Amino acid sequence: MIVVLDFGSQYNQLITRRIREHGVYSELHSHRLSAQDIKAMNPKGIILSGGPHSVYDENSFRCDPEIFELGIPVLGICYGMQLMASHFDGEVSKADNREYGKATIDLQNEPVLFRDTPEKQTVWMSHGDKVIQAPDSFRVDATSSSTPIAAMSNDDSKLYGVQFHPEVLHTEYGNQLLKQFVFDVCNCSGNWTIENFIEMKIKDIRAQVGDRNVLCALSGGVDSSVVAALIHKAIGKQLTCIFVDHGLLRKNEAEEVTATFADDFDMNFIKIDAADRFLSKLENVTDPEQKRKIIGNEFIYVFDDEADKLTNMDFLAQGTLYTDVIESGTDTAQTIKSHHNVGGLPENMQFELIEPLNTLFKDEVRELGLQLGLPETIVWRQPFPGPGLGIRVLGEVTKEKLEIVRESDAILREEIAAAGLERDIWQYFTVLPDIRSVGVMGDARTYDYTIGIRAVTSVDGMTSDWARIPWDVLEKISTRLVNDVDHINRVVYDVTSKPPATIEWE
Ligand code: XMP
Repeated sequence: MIVVLDFGSQYNQLITRRIREHGVYSELHSHRLSAQDIKAMNPKGIILSGGPHSVYDENSFRCDPEIFELGIPVLGICYGMQLMASHFDGEVSKADNREYGKATIDLQNEPVLFRDTPEKQTVWMSHGDKVIQAPDSFRVDATSSSTPIAAMSNDDSKLYGVQFHPEVLHTEYGNQLLKQFVFDVCNCSGNWTIENFIEMKIKDIRAQVGDRNVLCALSGGVDSSVVAALIHKAIGKQLTCIFVDHGLLRKNEAEEVTATFADDFDMNFIKIDAADRFLSKLENVTDPEQKRKIIGNEFIYVFDDEADKLTNMDFLAQGTLYTDVIESGTDTAQTIKSHHNVGGLPENMQFELIEPLNTLFKDEVRELGLQLGLPETIVWRQPFPGPGLGIRVLGEVTKEKLEIVRESDAILREEIAAAGLERDIWQYFTVLPDIRSVGVMGDARTYDYTIGIRAVTSVDGMTSDWARIPWDVLEKISTRLVNDVDHINRVVYDVTSKPPATIEWE
């Protein structure tokens, strides 16, 4: 295992991801971990991440200096290298401006981490301060025109530093450098795979659960689906899944989830048809926030009602991911955020939590899902909000309007798939604004609904741009929407980024 200590760089998770891509397990931890805590984890190497601070700042993040004495190889990246240099007797110069972007470095003396790579190479820099004097026991491995010490090393003590970011793709041989570090310097074996993960987790889950029972709130989303499939593989019928159909799901969604889990996987699967219950609560409600609250609360009531009928449920399974854990746990100012994964636990029930995905990244969860035999439609499902179509029918939610948005959304998805754009567009759906306008169809005047298409590119949903869907694809979608869905006579395309708009319209 490689421990990455987090000093607040925006790239810190990426380092862990890259190491795992080489088949070596890696975890991101707080820079506050003591050397003894780290030693107890028995890592084969330690990486100090970059960070926004200057080593001269009074409140800058520090690490326990004893980690340099553990005999475990250490690679310092950017701020991590400056910390290493200042801990020994090197000199770091404080800068007023950041150097940001591509730079060319020249290698010196065939450094270990750069084995088999060219003497001149492109790297990605993003730093303010820089090391201007390497510690006496270190040698300089690379220089650039603006950074006299772009890399340094002390082979005997297995301590290495690079001023640039090997974890970003713009650094030409960055991946190779990390590979050299984990295999040649740290002697990792590279046998961490999803297959091994499944085997290991199955053992863990069986040990944790024993002969007790697990309850899982299955939404049909990627995370809860993979959790259910994994736990089911470990303990079979000791797992019970509750799936609440609130009537605000997309076309065929409830059927697909039921077919996968109840039929193919033969799980203890309870499907609650609560559409009427939700619809009646939403009657005459037009305020978006109120709608969200009503749907969220009702979901918990329905789940509670059902869970209450079950006896002997000891655990509640949750699809918490590693990113949730890191974001609430490594305590660098940039990433602190509380996370709430389940709307609310039934108040009168005492569950232990079981969170078997909490060491995995999203793409690893998808791979796990495929290996467990989940269909691609579930594994590659685009993000879908908890309140579902309820916030895509603007204003009051009615059966008729839900039908329009559901049918149009299905057509949009079909056409995006037919155009091969499914993986290029991060999220795409239709919305039904509460607008009717005049049109003409077969010589007759119509007065019907306008439907909006929303399609965005994004990395994490926090910001987004509108997707440049080719005109001919848009044309086909528009024609089908008007022809195939009753009560639509006009189609508009939302060309707003986030910010200033949000992705959903409510
Ligand atoms: P907005 O509309 O805030 O959406 O730009 C960002 C992303 O979050 C999804 N979203 C939700 N997901 N519960 C969820 O689980 C919600 O209440 C919710 N609201 C929005 C949205 O679909 C987009 O991917």
